Amino acid sequence: MKHITFSYASALKAEKVNQWKEQVIAADNTLTSGTGKGNDFLGWLHLPEDIQPQLQDIQATADMLRRECDIIVCIGIGGSYLGAKAVNEALLSSFGALEGNKPQVVYAGQNIGEDYLYELQALLKGKKFGIICISKSGTTTEPALAFRLLKTQLEQQQGKAAAQRLIVCITDAKRGALRTLATQEGYKTYVIEDNIGGRFSVLSPVGLLPIACAGFDIQALIQGAADMEAQCALPFEQNIAMQYAAARNELYQREGKKVEMLVNFHPKLHYVSEWWKQLYGESEGKDKKGIFPASVDFTTDLHSMGQYIQDGERILMETVISVSKANHEVIFPHDEQNLDGLNFLAGKRVDEVNKMAELGTRLAHVDGGVPNMLIELPVLNEYYLGELIYFFERACGISGYLLDVNPFNQPGVEAYKKNMFALLDKPGYEAESAALRARLKE
Ligand code: PA5
Repeated sequence: MKHITFSYASALKAEKVNQWKEQVIAADNTLTSGTGKGNDFLGWLHLPEDIQPQLQDIQATADMLRRECDIIVCIGIGGSYLGAKAVNEALLSSFGALEGNKPQVVYAGQNIGEDYLYELQALLKGKKFGIICISKSGTTTEPALAFRLLKTQLEQQQGKAAAQRLIVCITDAKRGALRTLATQEGYKTYVIEDNIGGRFSVLSPVGLLPIACAGFDIQALIQGAADMEAQCALPFEQNIAMQYAAARNELYQREGKKVEMLVNFHPKLHYVSEWWKQLYGESEGKDKKGIFPASVDFTTDLHSMGQYIQDGERILMETVISVSKANHEVIFPHDEQNLDGLNFLAGKRVDEVNKMAELGTRLAHVDGGVPNMLIELPVLNEYYLGELIYFFERACGISGYLLDVNPFNQPGVEAYKKNMFALLDKPGYEAESAALRARLKE
């Protein structure tokens, strides 16, 4: 069985990474022994085993929603939707919606766009749809707002009893408005355990139910994660999560590379990068420290960001996610006239062209002073995405401890909420409201 691999060979010499060995092992011990900062949020560490007893029930719920719905709306924001969206987008056909595949999984509550919600409500009009509402706190404004609108629409279209069957809530066991509402309405629920933070929750029902609803194999995803968890117990020399944490910290702390770009050459990986940005940005960006996580989709963004990456300020490091083998084959045809001059590609697979673009880009960026790390997936499927997810989560925990921050809190996220509530005159925010309005008048 192949596994995902990691290499820092185009970024750093082994001596530099090996200097971190003791610190990295200590950070990993702090993580696994639960003795570090934020140690009440380590429930994700053993999720690949701990979730097993729930898999059958999650699958049964997904099967019911798939049978009864043409559209399944997945409501959530941040860690409550990005993991599922990342896996689903990576595995779905690029044009599945246009091919009429059913059921479609669509997302809501990840923004407050009025046009977005209007268009979603228009799409759902007269359709058989169901709702998965995910919010750990059960109080987040964006998903709560979307849920009220769509729950009302579902009840009006299909009746209260059907809505009760077709709404599933994933939230805290006891606390929060969503729990109260779910209990009162008698919805099917799954619990987000207290010790699992949003951005580490993709391998819990938060990610697994929407992934199963899209028709993907959650057993294989969890198996991949479990196998990666086992690999994370290997010594430093064979432990890719430890090596990734060491390499990126060497580049950041000693070589001034303040921005890490996650790069893909596979358009379906766009949302894997979005998930990764939250995981690393929210975990490390605190106490005025942290690598800034950015992402680009190549070769698309080589035509917009390529200039800066090759030639701009030298603050960048790159981590490329490379998929060794495309799932489908497209051979480039010969053309007698060759008016486009592309006959040198005739008989080659499109993926071979993409791979040469990838190699050429990596070499050019290294020459331009952008250290290049490489993660390789043998193929894009549930199993390797499961490995990748656990790999990134484990390396993130280690990396946060190397930076001496608490990787499992997010105090900075509250600042905008406080201002928004004050500006919307939410009861309890009167003082903040007066202060903000005075400030805006200045
Ligand atoms: O990682 C996190 O903690 C956040 O991104 C949350 O998941 C996000 O803010 C949504 O919170 P909740 O699930 O409580 O609605």
